[in-house]
Amino acid sequence: MFDLKTYIKERRDAVDEFLRQHFSVRFQPEILYESMTYSLFAGGKRLRPILAIASYETCGGEYRQILPQAAALELIHTYSLIHDDLPAMDNDDIRRGKPTNHRVFGEAMAILAGDALLTEAFYIFLNSEHFPPERLIEACRHLADAAGPRGMVGGQAEDILSEGRPPEPDTLFFIHTHKTGALISASVRIGAILADVPVHLRDALGVFGDKIGLAFQIADDILDVTGEEERMGKKKGSDQRKGKMTYPSLYGIDRSRAAAEELVREAVGALRVFGESATPLVSIAQYIIQRVE
Ligand code: IPE
Ligand code: IPE
Ligand code: MG
Ligand code: MG
Ligand code: MG
Repeated sequence: MFDLKTYIKERRDAVDEFLRQHFSVRFQPEILYESMTYSLFAGGKRLRPILAIASYETCGGEYRQILPQAAALELIHTYSLIHDDLPAMDNDDIRRGKPTNHRVFGEAMAILAGDALLTEAFYIFLNSEHFPPERLIEACRHLADAAGPRGMVGGQAEDILSEGRPPEPDTLFFIHTHKTGALISASVRIGAILADVPVHLRDALGVFGDKIGLAFQIADDILDVTGEEERMGKKKGSDQRKGKMTYPSLYGIDRSRAAAEELVREAVGALRVFGESATPLVSIAQYIIQRVE
């Protein structure tokens, strides 16, 4: 019987071990190092690395091979959280159960820690001998596209521009698929690219990634209304305070839940072609909408 808890724990531990090892070499200025590692090791589900690993394994890969690329995803994600919490953005005080980065290190160092995590991510991603360079470049190009202006940053920009505006389906879809969906989907795709599977399998994983990426942010919106702060490690009600365009604000909680469930059904459907080997990804997809943290 497949046990998701054990599966996740093993892979999360391996990612954390890789990150610890990488950051065992300290650098100057000390405070920049402290600020980066403070947020990186504050806890966090490591969902994006785990998705990249699970996708790679579904495609027949051995997960230790993809650890650098998986870890790089977590650096980009952590940078996005540090910047997302800044006073000029969502202005939040608690993240991963601790005071937000700028509350501890000040805004300037929080901005720089974010910049540094983003750039270090690409260093780690490419600093790997296992994959042929052309495959690594293709995966890396995909990651840069998903994290940048046509992806996550574009979504974050629209999220900020839409504060206080009446919610509207197309904009909401744009925000969610970009600010969160893009990096999650890229995580899944990177696993497939690095495993070098045929295009139809890559596409199937692409559809899966797009659907769970959106479902993940819908679940995040719902948790912002209904979640337990202790378990989430962040304050609830942040979206309402900032007048954010969210699924609950447009559709209400019940329809938002139904939409997330439907997306996960469709996501799982896209993996049929993989048979049993997709079991971990299917379980993760279900976890994404059932999670309480
Ligand atoms: C929170 O992401 C920010 C969103 C994109 C919704 P996670 O819920 O994955 O946060 P951590 O990494 O577990 O802290
Ligand atoms: C964050 O979305 C998306 C990114 C960080 C790219 P949210 O603003 O909803 O995330 P939380 O709720 O603060 O974690
Ligand atoms: Mg935000
Ligand atoms: Mg936020
Ligand atoms: Mg949120």
